[in-house]
Amino acid sequence: MSDQKIFIFDTTLRDGEQVPGCKLNTSEKVELALQLEELGVDIIEAGFPISSPGDFESVESISRIIKDATVCGLSRAVQKDIEVAAQALKYARRPRIHTGIGTSDFHIKSKFNSTREEILKRAVQCVKWARNFTDDVEFYAEDAGRTDNEYLAKVIEAVIKAGATTVNIPDTTGYCLPHQYGEKIAFLINNVSNIDKAVISCHCHNDLGLATANSIAGVLNGARQIECTINGLGERAGNTSLEEVVMIIKQHKQLGIYTDINAKGLNPISRLVSDTMRMPVQPNKAIVGSNAFSHSSGIHQDGFLKDAETYEIINPAEVGAEQSKIVLTARSGRSALAYRFQKLGFEYNRNDIDVLYDEFLKVADSKKEVKEEDLRELANQYESQTALASVA
Ligand code: KIV
Ligand code: ZN
Repeated sequence: MSDQKIFIFDTTLRDGEQVPGCKLNTSEKVELALQLEELGVDIIEAGFPISSPGDFESVESISRIIKDATVCGLSRAVQKDIEVAAQALKYARRPRIHTGIGTSDFHIKSKFNSTREEILKRAVQCVKWARNFTDDVEFYAEDAGRTDNEYLAKVIEAVIKAGATTVNIPDTTGYCLPHQYGEKIAFLINNVSNIDKAVISCHCHNDLGLATANSIAGVLNGARQIECTINGLGERAGNTSLEEVVMIIKQHKQLGIYTDINAKGLNPISRLVSDTMRMPVQPNKAIVGSNAFSHSSGIHQDGFLKDAETYEIINPAEVGAEQSKIVLTARSGRSALAYRFQKLGFEYNRNDIDVLYDEFLKVADSKKEVKEEDLRELANQYESQTALASVA
């Protein structure tokens, strides 16, 4: 059987932009949308048009400029929202309306003061409204992660019948464990009679640090779309990180799935998003953090210098990152020290390094990282001592 494509739905410009301090203006959003298209994203969720005139303008501008990717606008299950989303998407070559409603009892009772029957009707109605404007309608069952599976299956079957072509199963609160989220997707596949007429999408939040694992569990159980953001940005603890799911799928070819993302663009777009949104990336972030390809302990450095694959499963060039770094700290070993001296043009033998290593440790214990200037200083001191010793 041939490999199955997983569609990448990027919501950096919508769920990601909801993060306090990450608000973007139209030209910033357009620039990021162009880069997302260049990266190979299949669907760009450009915004929530009814939320503000600025967001309407952004979705409209992105719709005009994007050529290949589908451009998506979010709406609630409200007729006016859907009409405004359709208007903002008017110029899109491939417009998608993303509409939906909360389906968990928390949402039904506390948010809507409603009943399961009433919510089911509203779900069907909003899909029908959206289908008046486009054939590409995605329905989200908000808080699907905490929605009873039997009821969720009923809603999903009804919205597909009403014309939804993608069904989004959000773990809105990041509550599910990977096996539970995977089982939820499997349950829908086995219990929704018309499920073959729609693509199932995973939209996972990271409140327990499981967004990536849950999305992968979803696709392993039959979902074919992952909703994610660059750098994992998003409400609260964030969304599934695009770079993580893409590289998991790429690294594990045996899963029989692939994406169309150009992995070399991952680090450049991560930096662009971080700079534009003024939101730093944590140094230990997988794939795109500044330490993702740094080695600092002696045991790791020695193994890495003998064969990079000993401690690296990804070549940094593959994801557009700078070369791997050997960082010198008080935990570093002699081979790393010799390597860093060599990089600066100092060729030392084993005896030289033994002497230099003791001096290096004194410096390393007094600071967090031994930098290039410290190494030059150590080399200068060592060379003047050896010169003096040879004169005497
Ligand atoms: O997390 C969520 O449920 C959402 C929906 C609006 C798709 O972002
Ligand atoms: Zn979300």
